[in-house]
Amino acid sequence: KPIVVVKAEVQPINPEIRKTEAKVVDSVVLTELAKPLTAYCRCWRSGTFPLCDGSHVKHNKATGDNVGPLLLKKE
Ligand code: FES
Repeated sequence: KPIVVVKAEVQPINPEIRKTEAKVVDSVVLTELAKPLTAYCRCWRSGTFPLCDGSHVKHNKATGDNVGPLLLKKE
């Protein structure tokens, strides 16, 4: 039986959510945050997971996907 290897970096991870947007980014404004802005990874490619390190840019370019981070912003 042949083994099928799928390279994760060439597969989109977002099949249907808000596909008309170039990049899906959501923000939450909070009053009790130590830093003014923290970005959490939603593409599962970050080298600093759970924080975003910008790896979604390479993933989106390679796959045609549109994933982006969740931004937590201090009010
Ligand atoms: Fe995953 Fe930015 S690295 S969303």
